[in-house]
Amino acid sequence: MFTAELASWARDPDPGRFPYDAVVREYQRVGKHFVPAELLQKLTRVRDLLPTMHGPWPDVRALATFLDTALDKADGRYDYPTYLALPVLELPGLDDPVSTAPFARSRCDRLIGQLVADALDFELTALDGLSVRLPEMRPDEDLVLKRCKHALRAVLPALARMALDQGVTATGHIDRARQVRGLMHADMSLAERRAVQLSLLPVYVSHDEYMFLRVLQTFETTFRLLALHLRAAIDALGGRRVAEAVHFVRGAEGALRESAPLFSMLATMQVGSFRTFREFTEGASAIQSRGYKLVEALCRTPDRERAESPAFHSVPDIHARLAHGHPTLDDVYREARDSGDLGPEETAAVESAMNGFAASLHRWRGTHYRLAVRMLGEATGTGYTEGTPYLAAVRDIPVFHHATPVGDETVRAR
Ligand code: HEM
Repeated sequence: MFTAELASWARDPDPGRFPYDAVVREYQRVGKHFVPAELLQKLTRVRDLLPTMHGPWPDVRALATFLDTALDKADGRYDYPTYLALPVLELPGLDDPVSTAPFARSRCDRLIGQLVADALDFELTALDGLSVRLPEMRPDEDLVLKRCKHALRAVLPALARMALDQGVTATGHIDRARQVRGLMHADMSLAERRAVQLSLLPVYVSHDEYMFLRVLQTFETTFRLLALHLRAAIDALGGRRVAEAVHFVRGAEGALRESAPLFSMLATMQVGSFRTFREFTEGASAIQSRGYKLVEALCRTPDRERAESPAFHSVPDIHARLAHGHPTLDDVYREARDSGDLGPEETAAVESAMNGFAASLHRWRGTHYRLAVRMLGEATGTGYTEGTPYLAAVRDIPVFHHATPVGDETVRAR
């Protein structure tokens, strides 16, 4: 199928008319780890011809980005960002101007809504017996129902801010999930639909990998939002715009809190399914998440032992930022407080916002750890770390030094 479509396209190679459907269908039919050599060769040839192709720049760029993620394994460059096809999704950049922070929430809401709605679409289509994609280990109806319930909790706040939640009127979880799917689909532009379609290249054909990918992508969207909010808070506090700084830190806390049901959704993953597709994800670990590590480094400069460990060695560009020194919320808060520029109420407001954020990040780490133990067991090395013992060791690392929450030992300042 893909052979005929690619051959026909190659006679007049317009990047805007690339046969994405046929190629994605083949990737989802066999899994990225098992894509036939013939297809990989053809795609490599298309990539070689990109510089000579005519067509609008966005079309050429979209094709180049897609091939970059589709050919990662074949090139020996496969890692966490390419596994998740993050470049295809065009998340907020790690260096976007802080002036874009006020708009980042709505941009991320759209993406979160689309990713979760697509995960629901996959579950519902399979439940209805209408999908042949990723057919191994289909979940039973009870499990799908639970998935829908948690996915709805994760997505409804974003839908409410988009003023789409009023269309979710049904009472049962499955019917509500169908409504969310329909509402989000109707709201998407063609370019957004394309990005969502091209960002799902599983390594294998286990049904649950679909949800795994969408959940990770949604968390990555949230991390980018947090990073932008923390940078905006640092900027505002540096300029002594205290209310603005508090607003952004509170916004970061809220976004992280709202993402928690995604862990409940992922906890419905079948352990056997995860262990099967995980055999083919070697090379990709979330320890390579640049968004997560930037969030950590924006809160405060990591201690030397942490900075010079796989945690930051796995994200070389973030590690380089540490070497050059960069402002952190912890430092700018201490500096503002000690300079006497903040009144007692302002100090209390900033501290309270920072403590709230620290508490939700600690909860995130705790939930992540428990989920990892459930899926992996107590002691299985991953090639990056010793596995869950690593997560147990890092979950209590203080988020800030200079904000001192009362009654929470895990986030207490030294
Ligand atoms: C099946 C579920 C999951 C398992 C079994 C799991 C397991 C692990 C393990 C073992 C590590 C340590 C690094 C390594 O050895 O590769 C890790 C790190 C990490 N995981 Fe997960 N994880 C899961 C889900 C998630 C999800 C949904 C996210 C959200 C993006 C996530 C984000 C992270 C991050 C950011 C790190 C780096 C933490 C650090 O270096 O401090 N994980 N995970």
